[in-house]
Amino acid sequence: MSRKGVILSGGRATRLQPLTFVTSKQLLPVYDKPMIYYPLAVLMMAGVREVMIVSSSHDLYRFQTLFEDGSHLGLKISYGVQEEPRGIADAFLVAEGFIAGESVALILGDNIFYGEDLDKALCAIDKDERGGVIFGYEVNNPERFGVVRFNERGEPLEILEKPKKPPSNYAVTGLYFYDNQVIEIAKQLTPSGRGELEITDVNNAYLRKGELKVVKLSKGFAWFDSGTFEDLHKASTYVRIMQEMQHTKIACIEEIAYRLGYINREELRNLADLHSKSSYSEYLYAILSDYQHVTV
Ligand code: DAU
Repeated sequence: MSRKGVILSGGRATRLQPLTFVTSKQLLPVYDKPMIYYPLAVLMMAGVREVMIVSSSHDLYRFQTLFEDGSHLGLKISYGVQEEPRGIADAFLVAEGFIAGESVALILGDNIFYGEDLDKALCAIDKDERGGVIFGYEVNNPERFGVVRFNERGEPLEILEKPKKPPSNYAVTGLYFYDNQVIEIAKQLTPSGRGELEITDVNNAYLRKGELKVVKLSKGFAWFDSGTFEDLHKASTYVRIMQEMQHTKIACIEEIAYRLGYINREELRNLADLHSKSSYSEYLYAILSDYQHVTV
């Protein structure tokens, strides 16, 4: 069995207007690459090779122009339409045919993750395991997120969506791994007060069955939900500084495809030639020359 991947890249992004009047939020730059490269890189590192990008019909062609069928990266990328933002859990209904009988990883198109913790956690997730896995990250403003309530033994009891009085500082990040039960769970949901099929309701359904694992990401890890100008700027600054300090690139999907053996040297060279005048391509050429020892 393989695991399918879904990147949810719709929504109206009103908090980023006027930046988002004529483009999609998930295509805005986060330093030197489009935002969606970051979640795609996470799925690739989780071993996912078949990905569906879900967005409105108005925006979908932009993603299609960027990735086409994904074969240049050794991936299979398809596209699903979500006409109205009916909620994050609605992605499973849009992608039902694509997911078919498999397990699925869902990632929000505006979430950026970086750090060793995640690589380790991704490697530890068994695609055939029953239930779901989500990631908790300590934040100062938990009321903006789904928040985990733990018992005294540190076990998750419940997730609350944007609670006024958060029971902990652990926000639920926008990366979710589920077995195939998620389709049936999503079908049974009813819209919340804000009219959406809530991902938090999916997580609580798994919790009630005793089938949800909450992996805590450490403070040294970086997670950004780039929904506001401040967050977007912070994410770009972080990427720039980390890349300069570590002489590497975060979420360089061409590099990841090459290191995972999805594409060969010739194919990587062709991709580098595509951007031949930017420092992005210099980085790809450097990989080809083996001057750099880069980890993904
Ligand atoms: O970022 C993590 C948080 O994401 C979680 O902690 C929350 O539990 C979860 O509900 C969600 O909260 P947000 O308020 O940040 O969700 P938002 O409505 O901003 O949507 C997140 C992204 O998903 C955003 O880029 C737009 C996209 N989206 C959202 C909805 C509701 C869609 O493409 N379609 C949708 O129907």
